[in-house]
Amino acid sequence: MPFRSLVAQPADSLLRLIGAFRADPRAHKIDLGVGVFRDDHGHTPVMQAVKQAEMRLIATQDSKAYLGPEGDKGFVALLEPLVFGPAPTADRRCGLQTPGGTGALRLGAELLAKAGVRRILIGQPSWANHAPVFAAAGIVVVPHAMFDMDAQAVDLPAVQAAIGQAEAGDAILLHGCCHNPTGIDPTPDDWQAIAAAIADSRLVPFIDLAYQGLGDDMASDAAGTRAVIDAVPFALVAYSCDKNFGLYRERTGALWATAPDAEARDIVLSNLLALARANWSMPPDHGAAAVRIVLEDEQLVADWRGELDALRTRLQGLRAELAAIGRAGSVDLAPIGRGKGMFATLPLSPTQIEWLRATHGIYMAGSGRINIAGFGPGDIARFGEALVDLGRAGVA
Ligand code: LMR
Repeated sequence: MPFRSLVAQPADSLLRLIGAFRADPRAHKIDLGVGVFRDDHGHTPVMQAVKQAEMRLIATQDSKAYLGPEGDKGFVALLEPLVFGPAPTADRRCGLQTPGGTGALRLGAELLAKAGVRRILIGQPSWANHAPVFAAAGIVVVPHAMFDMDAQAVDLPAVQAAIGQAEAGDAILLHGCCHNPTGIDPTPDDWQAIAAAIADSRLVPFIDLAYQGLGDDMASDAAGTRAVIDAVPFALVAYSCDKNFGLYRERTGALWATAPDAEARDIVLSNLLALARANWSMPPDHGAAAVRIVLEDEQLVADWRGELDALRTRLQGLRAELAAIGRAGSVDLAPIGRGKGMFATLPLSPTQIEWLRATHGIYMAGSGRINIAGFGPGDIARFGEALVDLGRAGVA
């Protein structure tokens, strides 16, 4: 009875929050849990540009025959200038469509394992699913310090020390922008220093770019990725369209690899295609086809960029509103104004997080991460008051 040896696994804590929030009957509950964008009404709308593209897709698609393990090549090619700019690496780069950014991470992890890479450095904290994805591919995760949480800044000496202690051929995971869960990104100078240290130590950078366009703008949000990729012979980039095209459940992503030359690139691509074939055979089409249709059409690109700008403006406005509260109880909200993207991590204990949920209906990840897009009208003032109340209640 082979299944008898299985040990029950806890449900993913972030995904469990979705169910707990839904089941909570309180009218004033606030969902700051899973990372999806929400508008003022708490809704996660389908972008209009994407909707238009989907309607065109339905009207014009005349076959659903297989595309192959590389997925929609037009989708991958049209994303490249947005991600890499006018990159000197173009002729030594290959890419393929993946089921979401998570699929890209898993495929990249399997490529690393196949190439004999045994370890990946991951600055802490990181997205809760990073470690399981790499562990599932047989890669040992080496955690290292990355942030000065008091200063709400990247601790560059800590990152350089971790890179200095790594072994040549180790990989290192970096968040391209809008760090999940802290919202703290390296400065342009930090990126240059990190790129130089990675190149010196002969590590393989693996960049997770899941929030391009939600920080400053599409180009600025890719600047760190470009600085690192251009400095090294081998690199991987996992990309997600979940957030910047609002395609979450359509699982729309891509993986790119750069190699020292065109010959090595072709070998890398052949391995990626073989790994993809053994994993999911072919990625799902719909989301990538919709993105391709948007990116092929000047007007839809302009519409999409406008919607993305609005989404980012909302996040920036909410950050400013939180920052304006300043200190609330024991928590200083001011640094949130300097963060990027959807997330910030607050210095709260599990007991305090549970108290906020039980007493005020405020749901956040067990790490103290909040999804800033989760605040509706009036919620930020209530959140500040709840933190003051937490301080008064003396919950530690
Ligand atoms: C998040 O971090 O909340 C999102 O990326 C959703 C997920 O899959 O965890």
